[in-house]
Amino acid sequence: MALSLLLLFLFSLLLLFLPRRIWRYYNLCKAMRQLPTMAPPHWFWGHANIIELNQSFADKVYAWRLKNNININVFWLGPFRAMVSLHLPEYFKAVMKNPKAPEAYSLLEDWLGRGLLIENGSRWFSNRRLLTPAFHFDVLKPYVHVYNDCTDILLGKWEKSALNGETVEVYNTINQLTLDVILRCACSHFSSCQEKGRNDPYVKAVLDLCDLSAERFMNPLLTVNNFVYFYLTSRGWRHRKALKETHKHSEKIIKERKAVLMNEGRQERIAKSKLKCLDFLDILLLANKERKDGDGLSDLEIRYEVDTFVFEGYDTTANALTWTLYYLAKYPEIQEKCREEVRDVLRGRNQLDYDDLSKLQYTQCCIKEAMRLNPPVFNIFRSLTEDTVIGGHYIPKEAMIIIDITGIHRNPNIWKNPMEYDPLRFHPEHSKERDPFSFVPFSAGPRNCIGQNFAFNEEQVVIASILNKFSLEISDERIKERLDILPVVLLRPAEELHLKLTLL
Ligand code: HEM
Repeated sequence: MALSLLLLFLFSLLLLFLPRRIWRYYNLCKAMRQLPTMAPPHWFWGHANIIELNQSFADKVYAWRLKNNININVFWLGPFRAMVSLHLPEYFKAVMKNPKAPEAYSLLEDWLGRGLLIENGSRWFSNRRLLTPAFHFDVLKPYVHVYNDCTDILLGKWEKSALNGETVEVYNTINQLTLDVILRCACSHFSSCQEKGRNDPYVKAVLDLCDLSAERFMNPLLTVNNFVYFYLTSRGWRHRKALKETHKHSEKIIKERKAVLMNEGRQERIAKSKLKCLDFLDILLLANKERKDGDGLSDLEIRYEVDTFVFEGYDTTANALTWTLYYLAKYPEIQEKCREEVRDVLRGRNQLDYDDLSKLQYTQCCIKEAMRLNPPVFNIFRSLTEDTVIGGHYIPKEAMIIIDITGIHRNPNIWKNPMEYDPLRFHPEHSKERDPFSFVPFSAGPRNCIGQNFAFNEEQVVIASILNKFSLEISDERIKERLDILPVVLLRPAEELHLKLTLL
């Protein structure tokens, strides 16, 4: 009897909700048919069977958009997931206040938990407020010494190669440098990742996680069931192993820092905070202790934030630096102009101070122009809280929104000769009239990048120090002509970039 009642209840629920779901799905399909699409979607795969994570697919999409002046279009991933891609600043503004799309970020959740990047709503708001002081100007200032110290290790390694007449491989060595920086600044952890290279198990695990998460995102079959993916596929086993490695690493760091804080006397702690030389983890741990609302972060939540900072803070910056070095090596006149500026500011010194950074105007233009053409975070995702009209197009709330940062940065309706590397577009004179939402490598609005000043300062120190010491040349003519992109979570170079360095 009880079972029959339960079945009846479930059946009534189904009858109540199913028609509405079917109606909404019909509504979604109808609206999506009004939007431009590259190819008719397959009934099951949608466009998942034609999307490729490579340069030639990106070229095809770009050529199609250019030919048809497309500023908005739809992709289907599987039969139910419609993704509307936006490539105009005003379209971005129209959706920026909407929450992150959980489906897009949930695949990073096993790794990053519900840290700042993924969390939505009041919990995000409260944590963002808690973490904002960690990126205050006074906290960032002393980090210039960390950038310098870590860059010195890189310069030493590159000097050896230059003296031996060997080329240097850029992306991986820079990646180790930015990881070294973020670990020191986020949690005063002095890893030896620059010396151990790719053999460092943590570095390997993080890189694996990036690749595996992206593959999973693009393949609807891998997202059907977590148990099947994690326990019954070889990819899932690798994924679990990498997760275990990264979490073990972060937990160890947190434990060590907690022990240090416990041992420090109260006076010492206050003195330290007055000097404003706290690392991000210190700020988290101290703020946590001082919170009176009983709503502090648990150890697990602190791990979420540490993993988020490391994920957000190192590979992004490494990609931005790699692409900047690529363009500087490709265009020797621009490289030389940049070097002249750096040397003018350094005046015979080897290292930059914080106050020097504001004087590196042309260098800043070069970095920005590299991030315009190849924004490390090339797509961000939102879900609509209600059906919305974007640029005259009706978009039901079931569609996932992609803000296509590369699409905005290369949109010919905004940028003249968008595919040309021209740093002077960022000269203050030339950018006065430009809509700030035309250049959004760090996103914009309330969910913008909390670490953007940290990253931009670091990029300037690294680029200036390299240019001060070496002249750069791309060793392979084919790569010099064209270095393809590999859009896997971040916009990476598809092939190794080797530079020939001459000591100056
Ligand atoms: C060149 C380097 C970087 C780039 C291009 C970059 C880009 C971005 C972008 C586009 C977002 C928005 C993501 C979204 O809406 O899904 C973001 C968010 C974020 N970034 Fe960065 N980032 C960089 C460096 C950093 C660094 C160094 C840190 C930390 C030290 C950091 C921490 C974060 C965090 C915590 C968020 C989430 C903020 C929130 O939602 O409140 N990023 N970043």
